Amino acid sequence: MKITINNQKIAVKEGQTILEVARQNKIDIPTLCYHSDLTIQASCRLCLVEIEGRPGLYTSCSTKVEDGLVVKTESENIARARKINLELLFAQHREECADCIYHGRCQALKICRQLKGKINGFTDRKKDKPTFKFGPALEFDSSKCIDCRLCVDMCHRQGIDFLELEYHDGLYEVVPSKDPKKDCIYCGQCLMHCPVGAFEGVGEYEAIEKPLQEEGKTVVFQFAPSIRTTIGEEFGMPYGSVVTGHLFAGIHALGAKAFDTSIAADVTTVEEAKELVERLEKKEPLPMFTSCCPGWVKFCEFYYPEFIPNLTTVRSPHMIMGGLIKTYWAQKEGLDPKNIIVVSIMPCLAKKYDITREELWLDKGALKPVDYVLTTREFAQLLRKRKINLKEVKPEEPVAPFPLPTGAGVIYGASGGVMESALRTAYEKITGKTLPQLEFKNVRGLQGVKKAVVDIAGRKLKVAVVNGTINARKILAELKIDPHAYDYIEVMACLGGCIGGGGQPVPVNEEIRQQRAASLYQVDEKSVIRCAHNSPFVKNLYQEYFNNQDNIKKICHTTFKKKNKEVNR
Ligand code: SF4
Ligand code: SF4
Ligand code: SF4
Ligand code: FES
Repeated sequence: MKITINNQKIAVKEGQTILEVARQNKIDIPTLCYHSDLTIQASCRLCLVEIEGRPGLYTSCSTKVEDGLVVKTESENIARARKINLELLFAQHREECADCIYHGRCQALKICRQLKGKINGFTDRKKDKPTFKFGPALEFDSSKCIDCRLCVDMCHRQGIDFLELEYHDGLYEVVPSKDPKKDCIYCGQCLMHCPVGAFEGVGEYEAIEKPLQEEGKTVVFQFAPSIRTTIGEEFGMPYGSVVTGHLFAGIHALGAKAFDTSIAADVTTVEEAKELVERLEKKEPLPMFTSCCPGWVKFCEFYYPEFIPNLTTVRSPHMIMGGLIKTYWAQKEGLDPKNIIVVSIMPCLAKKYDITREELWLDKGALKPVDYVLTTREFAQLLRKRKINLKEVKPEEPVAPFPLPTGAGVIYGASGGVMESALRTAYEKITGKTLPQLEFKNVRGLQGVKKAVVDIAGRKLKVAVVNGTINARKILAELKIDPHAYDYIEVMACLGGCIGGGGQPVPVNEEIRQQRAASLYQVDEKSVIRCAHNSPFVKNLYQEYFNNQDNIKKICHTTFKKKNKEVNR
């Protein structure tokens, strides 16, 4: 089939939309409610085009190609209609541009400038709309919502259905569910797919200003594995830019200490591989699930508590790192843990919830391993406020006793990374031999479910890697039929794992997630040490601090319990 767009003849495939064809051919059509991850909503009506021989205007995101179609993407009529539609959208959206997650990158404002439209062309209709808080993790301000329904679709695609539509004053509006059987898991995927910033993480960065200036306080920032390939976007760098050294420099410029959470990911790997080997020997409880994703943990505890015994008891890397900072490092530095403030820079909104879980606190609740969680976006905001441009700082190195992590600790940021790291270590633990090939390529990639059989000394280990909680539902349904279908399962709540986490820069799509993940694997490839158990830091830690089993238990392990609904309205 062939169609013509703006006098250009283009070969097309059946089932494609005009918008898809236009984008593939670099023809610009403005869109707001279209997202390549989601169902077409066709609600913003900005992507209008004309079709020769047909009256009226058509939404290009929802109109399929037909052989011989002649399409125009620009005309006076189109511009007028787009402008009115955009101004009507602005009448629904209460602007708070300075604090918006799209600040400097707002698609709506960009289109408005192109069309010479007005933000206040029509009176705002949504002055007194409610704000909802979803636990300690995120907030939804319905006065900013333009009713595109992408968030509802996203939450549904996560298999959660916590966001619903309710009829008010002639419109269906987004609300959190009152159903006691539905709860938010704080994955933040709704936020990542909202085109106008109606969702935001619960802000913590202002609270950090005080300890940063307080005499006698030591502020330590740690950054998650994925941050090194995502935060550059906040400073105009290309997708997938690796900025590890810039992060150290940026944190030091704030007057704080900087540690790489990937160092503790190596500890998580060693403990998790140990637990896997023990469970395989005892043959229970299997399969073992990873538990470093708090979105997935909340999902399991709320929706599938019967699988709680399958979660590994090993803590997530930032909690282990926080624990080490306030005990091991504090002792080395002669610091009182009470005067240390640990801030985790995370890709994640669920980690804001994670740090409120009392079962993760130390010394019977007296000591919190992590005091604050900042998302990648929030940390970038803090740096900008202090006029620190990550793109311009001179990269710096980590300092002792927390040196560079192994490649295994870095790939935690992509779906399959935790599994691959643990397999590298488990293989050598079981066989006592060096792995002939370090890469487990069949657990890599952005597909929702990846399955593999891994041969370890003749034992066939059945593994699955899942991203997106709807895919977790599929695997759990399989396990209900055949409890022995798998031995080890990695689950990450967010699309693509943490590189697509709810705290990462916006916008995001498959291509962007791909570039972020690819860069993490490149860091691994270039790393001198690529197995967690070979890390000199890890070896030293086990010799001088983890030679005491109580320390391992206290810093590295936790418990889980069934959860009731936490987010009400
Ligand atoms: S954070 Fe996740 S579970 Fe909660 S409303 Fe958003 S998409 Fe749904
Ligand atoms: S909150 Fe955002 S994604 Fe959800 S309906 Fe409103 S504008 Fe669309
Ligand atoms: S996948 Fe990563 S970013 Fe998303 S909820 Fe889990 S830990 Fe957080
Ligand atoms: S992008 Fe097509 S109607 Fe919104």
